[in-house]
Amino acid sequence: MKGFTAAFLIWTLISPNGGGKAWPTHTACRDGSLEVLYESCDPLQDFGFSVDECSKQLKSNINIRFGIILREDIEELFLDIALFSKGSSILNFSYPVCEDDLPKFSFCGRRKGEQIYYAGPINNPGFEVLMGEYQVLLQLYNGNHSTVACANATIICS
Ligand SMILES: *[C@@H]1O[C@H](CO)[C@@H](O)[C@H](O)[C@H]1NC(C)=O
Ligand SMILES: *[C@@H]1O[C@H](CO)[C@@H](O)[C@H](O)[C@H]1NC(C)=O
Ligand SMILES: *[C@@H]1O[C@H](CO)[C@@H](O)[C@H](O)[C@H]1NC(C)=O
Repeated sequence: MKGFTAAFLIWTLISPNGGGKAWPTHTACRDGSLEVLYESCDPLQDFGFSVDECSKQLKSNINIRFGIILREDIEELFLDIALFSKGSSILNFSYPVCEDDLPKFSFCGRRKGEQIYYAGPINNPGFEVLMGEYQVLLQLYNGNHSTVACANATIICS
């Protein structure tokens, strides 16, 4: 994980998007049987994300690292996840990350233009990732439905 912040800053500051090219593909985690790759789908910026323990037997409360420069205020922040397998929609899920009266994380309430770097647990349930390849669309947006971050990911579990 060394160099994570520096690497993320470089991704964020150097936009390859002059010619409408996609952002580079990043590895969120990889071990023997599980690999998670992601790509920013926000045309304006990239962001850094990694998972500390990568295991298909996903533990609850895993530690993640997340770094981004905020495009919007985030008094309220929501995460929408759509999971696909072989082009078919399997699951849609919406999770409130920050709410006005219930700020779950230290970065809740931060302002547009500020940089966030979060390293710590997320309150996820544990489960086993079934063998296969999955596509995931993730969208973070604030109370005004303005995009804060967007990513598409591929999960390969063998
Ligand atoms: C993200 O989506 C693009 C366009 O559909 C696709 O080419 C790319 O492989 C995807 N990246 C990941 C990491 O899933
Ligand atoms: C949402 O939009 C309103 C009206 O445009 C604005 O006053 C407010 O600051 C915005 N809130 C956020 C979180 O961006
Ligand atoms: C997920 O949402 C999309 C778009 O709204 C919809 O087409 C799809 O059927 C939903 N999938 C599930 C499993 O509910």
